[in-house]
Amino acid sequence: MEFIDAVGKRRSVYDLGKAVLSDDAVSRLQRIAMDVPSAYNSQSQRVVLLLEKEHDALWDIVESSLRRRIGDKRYEGKTSEKIDSFRAAAGTVLFFDDTDVTSSFVERFPSGADNFPVWADHAGGMMQYAFWLAFADLGLGASLQHYNPLIDDDVKERWGLPAGWKLLAQMPFGAVNERPGAKEYMPVSEKIRVLR
Ligand SMILES: Cc1cc2nc3c(=O)[nH]c(=O)nc-3n(C[C@H](O)[C@H](O)[C@H](O)COP(=O)(O)O)c2cc1C
Repeated sequence: MEFIDAVGKRRSVYDLGKAVLSDDAVSRLQRIAMDVPSAYNSQSQRVVLLLEKEHDALWDIVESSLRRRIGDKRYEGKTSEKIDSFRAAAGTVLFFDDTDVTSSFVERFPSGADNFPVWADHAGGMMQYAFWLAFADLGLGASLQHYNPLIDDDVKERWGLPAGWKLLAQMPFGAVNERPGAKEYMPVSEKIRVLR
């Protein structure tokens, strides 16, 4: 698929089903994770690809965290349906920033101290978008979710992740059961000015 087609095809897809990610697809995602840029080439982005039972475990963590936070009664209904829809997907990508790395750049370049944490978020966003496009390119759907920081401690404990990894986002992905409807666009001239 042409890059520009993948950009147009990418949407927030919530109605997802199981799909097998081939070894080749996993390699391509690994390649993408390596190629996404970062400020000063700090490479503080970290990615965890959860498949099969590890994917299920994430959504179990989200469910139990939400039940603890809002209670069983409020969890039932819409919230429970939403979490079940993410669990029905094929896998989930977790995106992190390794704050130890980001902090080391603050120490090395004090004049940019305020910028590095912001740039780390930017680079995280670039990583998330690259994966989102990659899934579109693979013919899969995905959405971007934020159950952090509620789930951070349980996630780190379950997968033995370093304390300094800050969870930024979760991206459930899978087969597209139903594509989302049309979305509204603002006038292109308001969004981008082409000057020559
Ligand atoms: C930075 C960012 C954060 C987002 N956070 C969420 C989120 O927490 N939950 C969610 O369902 N969608 C989230 N979205 C998806 C947006 O709502 C969605 O991209 C937007 O409405 C446009 O729709 P589209 O993705 O189908 O083009 C997020 C998108 C971006 C770029």
